[in-house]
Amino acid sequence: MTKPIIIDCDPGHDDAIAILLALAHPEQLEIKGITTVGGNQTLEKITNNALKILSFVGADIPVAKGAKGPLLGTLVTGEEAHGESGMDGPELPPSRFRAIEVGAVEFIRHLLLSSEEPITLVPIGPLTNIATLIRAYPELKSRIAGISMMGGGIAYGNVTRTAEFNIYVDPEAAQIVFESGIPITMSGLDVTDKAAIFDEEIATLKTRGPVSVMVGELLDFYSIYGKKMGYHGNALHDPCAIAWLLQPELFHSKMLDVTIETQGTYTRGMTVGDLRTKTEREPNVNVLLDVNRDAFIRLIYDALAILDARVQQSPQGDS
Ligand code: RIB
Ligand code: CA
Repeated sequence: MTKPIIIDCDPGHDDAIAILLALAHPEQLEIKGITTVGGNQTLEKITNNALKILSFVGADIPVAKGAKGPLLGTLVTGEEAHGESGMDGPELPPSRFRAIEVGAVEFIRHLLLSSEEPITLVPIGPLTNIATLIRAYPELKSRIAGISMMGGGIAYGNVTRTAEFNIYVDPEAAQIVFESGIPITMSGLDVTDKAAIFDEEIATLKTRGPVSVMVGELLDFYSIYGKKMGYHGNALHDPCAIAWLLQPELFHSKMLDVTIETQGTYTRGMTVGDLRTKTEREPNVNVLLDVNRDAFIRLIYDALAILDARVQQSPQGDS
């Protein structure tokens, strides 16, 4: 049964891999559209990156531009990790595609209203677009099957000791989404830091077809920051939000009551999970806590091999 999804993203090296993972499995996931949000880099740069990735594999999927920055304040980018372009590393050819004229929120609204079945939203950047949609059109929540997102971390953060980047950039938006009542599966750092790819696995990618090689070169750049920060391997954060939709059995999760801190000096942007046995509120989030890493990496490898074959069979890459 194919599941309709909308990916909201800020490519971003790991966003790119998440998009490719979804594209490799049209028998399971129908990407109705892609929307972009300022995050890892400015909106223009990350939209350009999304279009380049789609063009590289010949996937003509509508892309709509969303928010330049958070609901409050100014955009904090992830330039240190993702570089000046937002996806530094290999020089991808200019995209053959352009973003559509409609803005992200109106585009998502159109897709929700015109779909015969509820659509799963897959936000893998700051939650600004999703929060704006929910605030502007609360009646559309019934047309959202659920949210599989990358963001947060119950045990710790990465931008600060408590806040993960996607939530840190727009805590107010995250609060709106987490309090919306829409079913949420959260791929936070608790699981995504375990979904790491190692140097020798990256090297293997670069012995394969054009898409695998391109991803290997993306990861070469992406691993610079990981090494600088002392991480063991390179966490494939965003692909977890897609992998859970494809093979949920790879993950271990727990339902938790999670709320977003928006005020704290040391905790603004924290996803605060209630780990007590007796909680005041019913759990609202399916929090992923562990992953079968080897099987996850095989899923990534196999998806890229599918795209390698697809691109090599149609050199102009139209698929
Ligand atoms: O903290 C990881 C998240 O921040 C990922 O979505 C990555 O793309 C960056 O946006
Ligand atoms: Ca991202």
